[in-house]
Amino acid sequence: MSNTLITDKSYINGKWIKGTQSFDVINPATHKVIASVADLTVADCRKAIDHAYAAWPGWRDLEAFKRSNLIMEWFRRIMDAKNELAHIMTLESGKPLAESLKEVDYGASFVEWFAEEAKRAYGETIPAPKMGQRLLTIRQAVGVVSAITPWNFPLAMITRKVAPALAAGCTVVLRPASQTPLTALALALMAHQSGFPPGVFNVITGKDSKGIGQELATNDKIRKISFTGSTEVGRSLMQQAAGTIKKVSLELGGNAPFLVFDDADIDAAVKGAIIGKFRNSGQTCVSVNRFLVQDGIFDAFAKKLTTAVKKLNVGNGLDDGVQVGPLINQDGVDKVKAHVTDALDRGAKLLTGGKAKSGFFYQPTVLADVDVKALVAQEETFGPVCALFRFKKEEEGIAMANDTEFGLAAYFYSNGVNRCWRVAEQIEAGMVGINTGLLSNAVAPFGGIKQSGMGREGSKHGLDEYTELKYLCFE
Ligand code: SIN
Repeated sequence: MSNTLITDKSYINGKWIKGTQSFDVINPATHKVIASVADLTVADCRKAIDHAYAAWPGWRDLEAFKRSNLIMEWFRRIMDAKNELAHIMTLESGKPLAESLKEVDYGASFVEWFAEEAKRAYGETIPAPKMGQRLLTIRQAVGVVSAITPWNFPLAMITRKVAPALAAGCTVVLRPASQTPLTALALALMAHQSGFPPGVFNVITGKDSKGIGQELATNDKIRKISFTGSTEVGRSLMQQAAGTIKKVSLELGGNAPFLVFDDADIDAAVKGAIIGKFRNSGQTCVSVNRFLVQDGIFDAFAKKLTTAVKKLNVGNGLDDGVQVGPLINQDGVDKVKAHVTDALDRGAKLLTGGKAKSGFFYQPTVLADVDVKALVAQEETFGPVCALFRFKKEEEGIAMANDTEFGLAAYFYSNGVNRCWRVAEQIEAGMVGINTGLLSNAVAPFGGIKQSGMGREGSKHGLDEYTELKYLCFE
């Protein structure tokens, strides 16, 4: 399929910039070069920030309805280009085409939602403590926003940040992951065609993630940085942003538990487990990392899950019927290999899989009776491995679930209404899926606690992240 949305230039101040160097974007399924994209420098990044800064007052002061109309036009163009966008995403990220098509819907839903929310940046009136006073609050755009986004959701992680920022009246400099810049540039093309004024949305592509990241975190024209990625990088960006006291939103790593209690519907739990674990080959921040299964149901759940995992079709995401694509690169494969070897060395039983295939592919794997000290329990595996741990009592399961420095997503299955309330309230996570393995959508607040980050994306709260609350006192 030829794809008219593939572009190899960065987008700054409404212009397409080639730069002096380029870098290759590789298809992880075939290792073939898809395109060679502008490799911009820190100096180019600084220029983009200057343009975004200059464009900010005009964009901020535009009537909210006009900003909303432009963002809605962007939404329509994204939806009209659904097939081409999905094709680009599968080429550069490896995810199965069916998942890429779903990601276009998911990513576009943030654009539609925040186009609507642009009109609803409400303030409030406050009963005054003193006669003759009138107190109120207004919400105002933060200023220039920098956004740094990952490769695992090349479209949705961008729209989840950029759409609310634009809706609030902020201008944006985006640095997409160097593995998946093509989707970001296609989004910029559609924003350009939608008629956004120059400088409002800028996309910097480049290999120098450290240098560009540092500029985006320290430049004093930027008032807010939003990052999705590893906890390690998030911590460093937060430290750098402290120098100019920027507002910070961080969506970082997870170590999601998936508890299956004795009173759960096993078939429903297996279905949820497959979605929660194998979406994007296990490379999502909300992927299940630890299956904590109560003793009485452990063997039955393990058996049914293994049967379902064996049926998964692994291959090139562009091929019909493929459900599990490759991992993003060799580092991803090496991490999965190390985690599986470590679990087996500590006495885990291998129920299926357990081997790397050629290229960046890894067999969907199930490990049972894994030791809680194993790497798979401690770190985010980011691959297609189900690690099953056994627990006896509800309190023990909850304690195991919370025994991590992370707190992004958690899931559990139970048919007991009292248990559902009890467990949901005790789990330490920003998001809890109850009898479901998929909880992401545009209308609910996405984000974590503990070392999984701060701030919320999506929902009515997503707009607040890009506004300042100003208090007015009239007398
Ligand atoms: C992520 O992996 O960071 C996002 C996953 C999602 O939006 O569901």
